[in-house]
Amino acid sequence: MRIDILTLFPAICEGPLGESILKRAREKGLLDIRIHNLRHWATGKHLVTDDTPYGGGQGMVMKCEPIFAAVEEIKAESFAAEAPTPPPAPPRVIYLSPSGRRLTHAIASGYAAARGHLILLCGHYEGVDHRVIEHLVEDEISIGDYVLTNGAIAAAVFVDAVARLIPGVLGDENSAAQDSFAQGLLEGPQYTRPVDFRGWRVPDILLSGNHAQIAQWRAAQAMEKTRRVRPDLIK
Ligand code: 6GU
Repeated sequence: MRIDILTLFPAICEGPLGESILKRAREKGLLDIRIHNLRHWATGKHLVTDDTPYGGGQGMVMKCEPIFAAVEEIKAESFAAEAPTPPPAPPRVIYLSPSGRRLTHAIASGYAAARGHLILLCGHYEGVDHRVIEHLVEDEISIGDYVLTNGAIAAAVFVDAVARLIPGVLGDENSAAQDSFAQGLLEGPQYTRPVDFRGWRVPDILLSGNHAQIAQWRAAQAMEKTRRVRPDLIK
């Protein structure tokens, strides 16, 4: 799966997407992540990427021209790279912004299953010129109901959530299926050695070796935790 990220702050994405599991997925060729500095497509002496809003108001707005130029160049390059085989679906442009639909497991697994080419546009300042959203962006995604200083942080979160659902990215094929949310409930407690830490003991059931009872206990714990902290997940 290929993901191009367009941001004014590439370093924000490079760290999170260059370590651990995602680093290995990239090395294995399961993930082709390309992080671009949007300023590369800015023109003029000062390489300006933002400007004041028409109608007045606070903050700055990201300009159309560098964004369209970047997306069009990446799309053309991707099309040429697929030749002569007919290209699969064209890259999909996703704008990360607090005004988008809220990211969920269902949305992440949809993108992971499609395995397409994604172009992520990271917002900054007060947002982007609306013509970008109207004529370039196909999906607008928020990672939660709060505001971040920079969409690049959200892009790293989005890529991580999608990438770990691609078969082969996680070591154990089952581990994503067992996740909180994959089954609609939060995960219950886990323990490892020692069996007694400062007098706090691992529940006896987990030491019993009775796998049917352990599974039942875990299901009950997951249900109890979900009911307590996320009752909205229980329909
Ligand atoms: Cl995608 N961007 C920003 N700047 N803030 C956010 C967000 C995205 N999602 C939640 N808050």
